[in-house]
Amino acid sequence: MPALAQKKPKLDVVYVPTPQALVDRMLELGGVKASDYVIDLGCGDGRMIVTAASRYGARGYGVDIDPERIAEANANAKSAGVADKVRFKVANLFGESLAKADVMTMYLLTEINLKLRPKILKEMKPGARVVSHAFAMGEWEPDTHEVVAGKDVYLWYVPAAVQGAWTFQGEQDMKVQLTQQYQVVAGKGAVDGRPATISGKLQGTDLMLNVEVDGKRQELRGRVEGKTIKGIGGNWQARLS
Ligand SMILES: C[S@@+](CC[C@H](N)C(=O)[O-])C[C@H]1O[C@@H](n2cnc3c(N)ncnc32)[C@H](O)[C@@H]1O
Repeated sequence: MPALAQKKPKLDVVYVPTPQALVDRMLELGGVKASDYVIDLGCGDGRMIVTAASRYGARGYGVDIDPERIAEANANAKSAGVADKVRFKVANLFGESLAKADVMTMYLLTEINLKLRPKILKEMKPGARVVSHAFAMGEWEPDTHEVVAGKDVYLWYVPAAVQGAWTFQGEQDMKVQLTQQYQVVAGKGAVDGRPATISGKLQGTDLMLNVEVDGKRQELRGRVEGKTIKGIGGNWQARLS
């Protein structure tokens, strides 16, 4: 071996690039727009980030543990004329902060997605999107699953946190205790002193609740803004106590 030969990095996933048609669909599913910051963990030759920048004008960041891939990614960004919008770094994907990402793309493995899951839920903004090629995320069900050219593509919206005791005021006067398992919401409470059962779903910060009182169902839609939920199409607000 030549004295200066570079030591090959230890890969957690081998390099297999995502076909361009899938890259295009993944970015479309993720709803990428010009104001977005897109992260690709294990970015390979940078195609996801370069496409996000050249097609949508988004800014992007890719990391890969293999310096050869990062050299390719930088060359691809330069020839696509988007070097000013993107950044690539040789790094281990487990050490990266995800806080800035509006959209994160991945083509890794189920076991790696599962390791990343708590970090995604903790660090990413409510409403941010995660798009994965081929691999899912266990009991965190995707919000959308498509088969594109024979390959699975999954999309998740990072759900807002709604677990706790909420007091609704306005058109809706009720107190409810909500529990949450990823985007699935359930709860119990009272409307005007009558017992209520609640089921619901989050899509990022958009909350849909079914409230059942005395066998009658009512659907409420709202937007979660931290410790407040603001009614959509109805004059009500809820506050977390
Ligand atoms: C299946 S490829 C996906 C490439 C690209 N995201 C795409 O979709 O075309 C996985 C990539 O992850 C990189 N990788 C493997 N282990 C890594 C780690 N621990 N940290 C960062 N990158 C890693 C590999 O070098 C490879 O480029």
